[in-house]
Amino acid sequence: MKYLFVLLVLCSAIACKNTPTQELEPLYSIQKEYIADSAMVVSAHPLASEAALSMIERGGNAIDAMVALHFALAVVYPRAGNIGGGGFMVYRPQNDSAISLDFREKAPAAAHRDMYLDTAGNALDSLSIFGHLACGVPGSVEGMYVAHQKYGLLDWEILLQPAINMALNGIAATEREIVAYNKYMPQFAQYNPHTNAFVKDSAWQRGDLLLQKDLAATLKRIQADGRDGFYTGETADRIVEEIAKKKGIMTHDDLKNYHAVWRPVVKFPYRDYHIISMPPPSSGGLCLAEMLNMTETFNLQQYGFQQTESIHRMTESARRAYADRAEHLGDMDFYPVPMATLVDKSYAQQRIADFDPTKATPSDSVQHGEATAAESEQTTHYCIVDKQGNAISVTTTINSNFGNKIIVEGAGFILNNEMDDFSAKPGSPNQFGLLGNEANAIEAGKRMLSSMTPTIVEKEGEFFMSVGSPGGSKIITTVYQVICNVLDFKQDLKTAVHQGRFHFQWKPDILYYEEGIFRQGLIDSLQAKGHQLQSRDLIGQVEAIQRLPNGKLKGVADWRGDDAAIGF
Ligand code: GLY
Repeated sequence: MKYLFVLLVLCSAIACKNTPTQELEPLYSIQKEYIADSAMVVSAHPLASEAALSMIERGGNAIDAMVALHFALAVVYPRAGNIGGGGFMVYRPQNDSAISLDFREKAPAAAHRDMYLDTAGNALDSLSIFGHLACGVPGSVEGMYVAHQKYGLLDWEILLQPAINMALNGIAATEREIVAYNKYMPQFAQYNPHTNAFVKDSAWQRGDLLLQKDLAATLKRIQADGRDGFYTGETADRIVEEIAKKKGIMTHDDLKNYHAVWRPVVKFPYRDYHIISMPPPSSGGLCLAEMLNMTETFNLQQYGFQQTESIHRMTESARRAYADRAEHLGDMDFYPVPMATLVDKSYAQQRIADFDPTKATPSDSVQHGEATAAESEQTTHYCIVDKQGNAISVTTTINSNFGNKIIVEGAGFILNNEMDDFSAKPGSPNQFGLLGNEANAIEAGKRMLSSMTPTIVEKEGEFFMSVGSPGGSKIITTVYQVICNVLDFKQDLKTAVHQGRFHFQWKPDILYYEEGIFRQGLIDSLQAKGHQLQSRDLIGQVEAIQRLPNGKLKGVADWRGDDAAIGF
């Protein structure tokens, strides 16, 4: 079977090679940049963006659009869009203070700190990344439901309909999607002996319809019964049955007891702007604050975009912030995260005080600061601004590409492998190479630390920009660079998003950059300062919206995916 599949994939690759894609009709109309008068949606898939915008056209607001978009993404972008995962929303209503909604997954009640260690005490990554034990209690459906209960205008049932239609009628798979479906088909087959939408007898071809009847039935239950259509009844039964097949630990009680949490946002000034981002259990907002607060001590603009001196300063800021992340950040419902210190400008000044303009600081010599409390990288981001000016920035995930690879039998959706975002053992890196400590140790009911950084920028008290990205540990540095590109290097939004990117996270002590974006002279000069450089594939997949001086909205979707901006 495996060899047959490899043969099929090779044949399909040869077929693709002989059929130049540029001669093919595009499957979808995709706009990477869109200027609109009053409403804008940017997401990882054009059909999801359209579903959201259609709700605003019907009189809905940004929250209604978000719900339609989130469920649509679970159908059209299953590698990261989800109902089996979780996420974070940062919401800035036009006439009220910004607030965040935490619908991050939680550890099941039977989870414990040594659950991924072998008898010798070594971390067994495979258990937290693949299969039934890797899964945290999903939060997405609850998140959508409570947000809608609080702010939505349109009927809940209406919001689910585009997703149900697309799951029932099928959607044509793009080139990018078929690459992913074919790559992961052996794993889907391995973990899902039952019939499912992703495994077929032949390799996926561009334009093939992804039909998800089981998922449509699940979505109908959610449509009819709201959060109970997922956390109780038939869907819950199917999840628990699936989990029980291979020593998973999630129970009916875990599902029934899941609750999303409204949390105050992380808000801090940066130059002439205010940045609004996600608090723990995301590390995104606090790391971003620390990095930008350090960056503010430099005149970045004078060094120029992606020049030795600007990259050196940005890297050294990231080095110190990620060292703090490993030590201090976790679910603040379980651990006293030193929030106030980590956003404090004087703390950032102390942290960067040992900065040496001539050379890189070895990460082994950078420890966390004394702040006292008192993958694959798949995740996805979307931004929405509605006619009233309400702005939403949401990042959502099932962690790796297609999560733990389990498609719940009879329910048709993929479960997350978010348990890998905990620190299974102090000093043992997770799939993103991130280290953690006590703050992010596994505990029953605790939320695992995230890097998701849904962010909104204000200027003079008005919405200026929203931005976010997938990318695991690279999310924070991606959002950071887009913000610096716009605010410091004065780039227009499309340039800022479409630029090449780099990434640094303290450990490993390696400055990664997207293949081909750094010229040799730049590489040489950074190496001369002591930075270790390594090229890699793409970093991040940004969606962003900006309010232009003339009041119009500019939406920008990253070229790195099928992402699409649309508005009116
Ligand atoms: N699962 C990636 C993150 O939450 O950061």
